Amino acid sequence: MNYQKIKQIVEGIQTTDGAGVNLTRIIGSPELNMLDPFLLLDEFGSDNPDDYIAGFPPHPHRGFETITYMLNGKWQHKDSAGNEGKLGEGSVQWMTAGRGIIHSEMPIQTDGLSRGFQLWLNLPKEKKMIKPAYQDIESEQIPIVKEKAGMVKVISGNFHGTVGPGKSHTPILILDIQLLENSKLTIPLTDGWNVFSFIYEGDVFSGQKLSKGQLAVYEKDGDVDFKTKNNKARIFFAAGEPLNEPVARGGPFVMNTRGEVLQAFSDYEEGKFE
Ligand code: CO
Repeated sequence: MNYQKIKQIVEGIQTTDGAGVNLTRIIGSPELNMLDPFLLLDEFGSDNPDDYIAGFPPHPHRGFETITYMLNGKWQHKDSAGNEGKLGEGSVQWMTAGRGIIHSEMPIQTDGLSRGFQLWLNLPKEKKMIKPAYQDIESEQIPIVKEKAGMVKVISGNFHGTVGPGKSHTPILILDIQLLENSKLTIPLTDGWNVFSFIYEGDVFSGQKLSKGQLAVYEKDGDVDFKTKNNKARIFFAAGEPLNEPVARGGPFVMNTRGEVLQAFSDYEEGKFE
């Protein structure tokens, strides 16, 4: 069998966003600006409320989707399209900003552990100005595939015939993988897709050793395999068909041209977002 080789390993940078939430930016940093169609991956995780209590007060987005996956803690989402949702443990909040939305993400806990990921998924050129949408996916709605190696939560896409609830506009796969000790798991993939695995617990062998806090980017052909030895491991895994379109980023807006980004700023200032 042909397994993908790792071509890059990154660990991200410590930064703050929102009103002062401490987080690790793993994709969307100088080391790894993007991995088409993924524009950004943040990991937040702390049991110190000072690291997250200020949250993300109202701010705009246009041109892509934000996918938030909570591991621990409770947050609340509200947006200008009238959507509201509670992010509990194991839930996913999937917001399609499309032509423009203003949203807030605020913790509704004042102590304890708050941990999770936010992934930004680009929209193809012809869908950047679609109507904003929102998918509030409860933990119980996310199917779990039990394997000898452990278990796989299918957040979006198809894994071994099980399809996740998260609906995307281009083909992707998003998995939360939990491996047992001394296990081996293969993820079948479509050639040509961009693929990453982020190890968030334990050590994993995937062609080479990966440790907690490392994100691996793979070559584009073949399947990906994971092995563990004497430890359990958890992996946030995503793959997607690249859009291969020009990307112009300006703060919370991601369009195809600089002009479209400037338009987004002026539309926002003129109150044209919903
Ligand atoms: Co946001």
